[in-house]
Amino acid sequence: MSNEQLEPQIVELDNLHEHREIVTFMRRSSPLNTSQRTALEQHRDFILEYPVGDLRQHFSHPERPLTVEIGFGMGRSLVLMAQANPERNYVGIEVHIPGIAQCVYEAGQAGLDNLKVLDADAIQVLREMPDASINCVQLYFPDPWQKKRHFKRRFVVDERMALVEQKLELGGTFHAATDWEPYAEWMLDVLDNRENLENLAGKGNSYPRPEWRPLTKFERRGLESGHKINDFIFKKIK
Ligand SMILES: C[S@@+](CC[C@H](N)C(=O)[O-])C[C@H]1O[C@@H](n2cnc3c(N)ncnc32)[C@H](O)[C@@H]1O
Repeated sequence: MSNEQLEPQIVELDNLHEHREIVTFMRRSSPLNTSQRTALEQHRDFILEYPVGDLRQHFSHPERPLTVEIGFGMGRSLVLMAQANPERNYVGIEVHIPGIAQCVYEAGQAGLDNLKVLDADAIQVLREMPDASINCVQLYFPDPWQKKRHFKRRFVVDERMALVEQKLELGGTFHAATDWEPYAEWMLDVLDNRENLENLAGKGNSYPRPEWRPLTKFERRGLESGHKINDFIFKKIK
């Protein structure tokens, strides 16, 4: 279903009194097929149950640097990164259950012991983390929320970035990528004006696409539509 078709529901939710917090995602009812159900069952060791508290405690080497990926989609690039960096721990947070199933299936095939995933709003999970406990936060091809009235749902806004900064270690990084040019400009505007963050490409610039960041599903779609990809890497400096 397209965002267009879902919009009336979004507007209604915004008006409900009990729905106080604006979220950055749409939960979709996506029925699971048999192999996805089997994957969730067979690879449940990769899955954390919310609430999770300090994410580091769920790893056999909690002292290793922690990367948190927000909205990993189908998870292929997250699995590849965890495989390429066994000296780090990875947690992927996603609300799309078929994506969680696919990710744990591939993590199981790869025999990873440094990756966990969970179905939750990443904002809630970040709030429960101790301050200065995460080495890297990754946000690859977040929903661009193209309509003006939905801009408040964009992940990169001052309020959410203040939370990310609070949870990053000093010297830790926030890495975002997008194929939506207006969102890239928006991200740069927000991030370049955060006094605790330093743009590793220099103010006003996007970061050259790192070859160590695997292609994601939404990135491929963006490239097929002729979109330019922008990466941003910001370091927490105070
Ligand atoms: C456009 S998709 C991109 C998926 C993937 N990163 C890729 O590049 O293929 C954005 C994903 O972020 C997830 N998402 C957005 N906000 C989130 C949040 N606050 N917590 C967890 N997942 C979130 C959505 O469910 C969606 O699957």
